[in-house]
Amino acid sequence: MTTDTQAMMARRARLMGPNVSTFYEDPVHVVKGSGVWLWDDSGKMYLDCYNNVPHVGHCNPRVTAAITAQAGTLNTHTRYLHDGILDYIERLTDTMPPPLSTAILTCTGSEANDIALRMAEARSGHRGIIATDATYHGNTALVSQLSRSNVPGVGFGLDQYFRFVAAPDSYRTPDPDAAHFIADLEAKITELEASPHGFAALVVCPYFLNEGFPDLPDGWLKPVAARVHAAGGLLICDEVQSGFGRTGTHFWAHEKMGVTPDIVVLGKPMANGHPVGAVVTDPGTMAAFRTQFRYFNTFGGNPVSCAAAMAVLEELQGNDLMAHAARVGTYALERMGALQDKYEVIGDVRGSGLVFGAEMVLDRDTKAPATAFTDHVVNALRHRGILLSKLGRHKNTLKIRPPMPFSIANADQLFDALDAVLAETPVPT
Ligand SMILES: Cc1ncc(COP(=O)(O)O)c(C=O)c1O
Repeated sequence: MTTDTQAMMARRARLMGPNVSTFYEDPVHVVKGSGVWLWDDSGKMYLDCYNNVPHVGHCNPRVTAAITAQAGTLNTHTRYLHDGILDYIERLTDTMPPPLSTAILTCTGSEANDIALRMAEARSGHRGIIATDATYHGNTALVSQLSRSNVPGVGFGLDQYFRFVAAPDSYRTPDPDAAHFIADLEAKITELEASPHGFAALVVCPYFLNEGFPDLPDGWLKPVAARVHAAGGLLICDEVQSGFGRTGTHFWAHEKMGVTPDIVVLGKPMANGHPVGAVVTDPGTMAAFRTQFRYFNTFGGNPVSCAAAMAVLEELQGNDLMAHAARVGTYALERMGALQDKYEVIGDVRGSGLVFGAEMVLDRDTKAPATAFTDHVVNALRHRGILLSKLGRHKNTLKIRPPMPFSIANADQLFDALDAVLAETPVPT
């Protein structure tokens, strides 16, 4: 770590308080971005294999032009009439099945999940929520209770409304027909039904991205959704990470998983870094929410945000970036598979489109997680100018989730560097 970095870390601690997380043992001080590239303050260039927020590329010219033009014309809020939000909601909901035709725009995924939980209460008349035990859905007092990864504390006693089911894990505990997941879900529904809260909703990322993107067959959520609906609950799909064509095969991961959710939550990639999130639902659920909760969000749905979000959709659809993600993702899995043949430490390779990775193990028979080794690989790659991260219950899965313009040549650069790091790093015994 340079003395400049040390000074900046000290300044952050002084100005921002303790425990503010950074990526990497030697944090990167970024000053510029373009497409799939980032530059640090010394001029060093990094291949961004991780950031899903600049979905159509860092500083995408179409998005920056749309923001600039709208910011120079008008920016207000949704208490005035404006075409921008209406045009955007129409174009967004055109990408989803028909009952999903209404939306509320927010500034973050957390706010969107917060609304989704309250919509589920308004629609079902209950408050009991079920989530998986290894995920993250955001940071409000209510939504933080969904997260087992960033332990939220009891937060106003709101934890009483939440129950957790084991996240699917295709590598260690395969469950291809969701039978175990459904058995766990039924137990938690029964528990909630016996409580004063009742059962309101199951909330999941349909590609289980924070959980380590297990390799599940397409349509896996279908019997799960049937069970949720039979119990009078709603299915909330948090597509904050999995949506907007990321998986390559479908624009939304819920389509891949064979379900039409009652509520879809959006965020991160939606406006390429401009703060935009959304909750999409059917008119009946929206009406139930709008009549039971008065909701206004000062910045949510402002004309500049809508212009940015519209430009992202135009860029995605105009350049068919989903098909591009499928092509590059298939190639990436081949190259990762070749590394798995070469290195015993790679226990499992999985992914779809431009979300892929590898689970590192100390022993392929015991599947003992190589957590410290994975951490070392991530940090070694950072020094070779490759930015990625790790995740999953054991924090031993490389998480690669680059901006959508990421190319085959970029994939080659990533895998050549990963090969070199794996070759030089001894696996602990
Ligand atoms: C799946 C998922 N949902 C919601 C959120 C929260 O989004 P935000 O940070 O915009 O509030 C995150 C953030 O990491 C997320 O990964």
